[in-house]
Amino acid sequence: MNRPFSFQAERISRLFHSFNVAAAAMLGLVILLVVYISIRYRRRGNDSGEGAQVTGNNLLEALMIGLPAILLAGFFFASLAAQRAIAPPIGPDLKPDVIITGHQWWWEADYPQAKVITANEVHLPVGRRLLMEMRSADVIHDWWVPELGNKTDLVPGTSNYLWLTINKPGLYIGACSEFCGAQHAWMRIKVVGENEKAFNGWLAANARTALPPADSLAVRGAALFQAKTCASCHRIGGTPAVAKVGPDLTHVGSRNYLLTGMLSTSEANLMAWISHPQQIKPGAWMPDFILSRDSVKAIAHYLESLK
Ligand code: CUA
Repeated sequence: MNRPFSFQAERISRLFHSFNVAAAAMLGLVILLVVYISIRYRRRGNDSGEGAQVTGNNLLEALMIGLPAILLAGFFFASLAAQRAIAPPIGPDLKPDVIITGHQWWWEADYPQAKVITANEVHLPVGRRLLMEMRSADVIHDWWVPELGNKTDLVPGTSNYLWLTINKPGLYIGACSEFCGAQHAWMRIKVVGENEKAFNGWLAANARTALPPADSLAVRGAALFQAKTCASCHRIGGTPAVAKVGPDLTHVGSRNYLLTGMLSTSEANLMAWISHPQQIKPGAWMPDFILSRDSVKAIAHYLESLK
C-alpha cells in the first residue's frame, strides 16, 4: 500500500486504519465467542434433545443492537471529522493556487497568480496548503495521486476543488481514474513536490517567454511551427502561437516526459510523435501531418530547445 505524503492522505490513512482496527477487533470477538460457545455448550455424553431456549432477553437484545449502533456512529463521526479536515468549505473569495484542466488525454496546469501554464508535470510547493481548482475541457476525468490523498472528479461545465498540503518533496505518480476514452490508460499524472525555493525557481523560469531559436535549424523549425498548423492548437509564449487546444509548449524541452509519460523528451521522440501521432497515441487530437522528414526534424529540434 502507498504511504501517505500529504496532510489529507494522512488523515484518510488514519481513518482507514482505525476502521480496520475496529473491524479486526469485531472479527476477533466473534471468533472467540464461536470457539468458546462450541466448547462450553457442546453436546455431552448424557445430553438428549434440545438445549435450553432463551426468548425475550433484554440485555442480549440491547447489546446486539446497541454495540453495532455505537460502532457505526463512531465510524460516521470519525468520517465526518476527517472530511471536514480534508475538505473545509471554499469561501467565495478564495483564489485557487493552481487550476488543473483535464483534456483527452493530458493535464493542463495553470498557475493564475504567476501566469504560468504548463502540462502534465505538475510542480507544487511542499508544506503549503494549496487550493486546486479542477476543471474539464471535454469529458469527465478523475484526478488521483494515491500518495497525496483523495480523488477528485473533473466535470465539464463546473469546478471542483481539492485542498492539498504535501509533506515531503518527491515525485508522486497518479492516473486518471475515470474512463475517458481511448487513451484513458495513458492519462498519467506526475506531481513534482518541491520545497518553496525550488518551486519558486521553477515558476519564475516557466513565467518567462520562450527562448528564441538558437541555431539555423531551430530558426527553420520555429518558422515551420508558425506556418504549418502547429500554431492552430499550441501556444508558445512570446510568439504568435496562442492557441490552447493542445498542451502549452513554451517550455516543453524542460519537461522530462511527453504525452503524460509515454515518451521521454528528446528530439528523436518529438520527431516520432510529430510524424506518427496516431500510431503512438491512437485517437489523440494531434493529427498526422504529412511533413517531410527535414521539416519534422527542424520542428522537433526547435521544440526540444525550448527549455
Ligand atoms: Cu481522463 Cu480517464
